[in-house]
Amino acid sequence: MKYLVMVGGGPGSLPRNYIEAIEAQGRALTGYIDIADESAPLMHPRPRLGDDRLLDDPAFIAAHDFVIAVRGPRRLATCEKLLKRDASLPVIVHPAAAVSVTATIGVGTIVSAGAIIQQDARVGRFCILNTSCSIDHDSVIGDHVSVSPGARTAGNVTIEDNVFVGLGALIIGGVTVGAGATLGAGAVVLRNVAGGSTVVGNPAKPLVRV
Ligand SMILES: CC(C)(COP(=O)(O)OP(=O)(O)OC[C@H]1O[C@@H](n2cnc3c(N)ncnc32)[C@H](O)[C@@H]1OP(=O)(O)O)[C@@H](O)C(=O)NCCC(=O)NCCS
Repeated sequence: MKYLVMVGGGPGSLPRNYIEAIEAQGRALTGYIDIADESAPLMHPRPRLGDDRLLDDPAFIAAHDFVIAVRGPRRLATCEKLLKRDASLPVIVHPAAAVSVTATIGVGTIVSAGAIIQQDARVGRFCILNTSCSIDHDSVIGDHVSVSPGARTAGNVTIEDNVFVGLGALIIGGVTVGAGATLGAGAVVLRNVAGGSTVVGNPAKPLVRV
């Protein structure tokens, strides 16, 4: 097994989620590297190995597994850059998550404590499945989807790429959430959601800004 390096620092919750999940798996984190303007010490200190210039070094890439502890477009860009360089981006699953043996999860995804992924669900690459969210049977989750704590899909839900699912959102069966959409905290999604739109409320409707 390769040495494991975290890309991204700072005091945010994602680096801490990664550290906790990795070490709860009994695996050691070799250290972290700073990325661009997100450079900052970790709240729970681990060794700093350098900055993201290390991601241009083929020998460094070949010698390590990587987890990407940054959010948003920078997460996607960093994951894609590393994959193009044949880097290894393991799936990190906290031991207190429950993942069906028939579910599949793409590279670079983290599954936090309490999350549940049910039978034949398919989760894409670079996703963040946060605390106690659940993805039910046969649902299909695209790449770079962030599912906030306590959010739940029923079975047979489709969530396309780059969607943000807010805290505690609920999505009923058979619904499709279009690419790049945002589901607000507590949204109850009963109908398909247009790509790029933001929906809130129960039942969820497009957010109208006045
Ligand atoms: C939907 C969301 C993205 C909109 O953010 P925003 O564009 O900054 O919107 P604003 O805060 O300016 O709110 C605009 C209006 O929508 C309402 N609104 C915002 N979020 C809402 C929500 N989740 N449910 C219902 N109404 C909401 C606001 O009350 C406000 O209404 P008003 O104009 O009548 O006062 C955001 O409120 C949200 O829910 N984010 C999810 C956060 C989350 O789950 N984080 C998880 C961290 S792990």
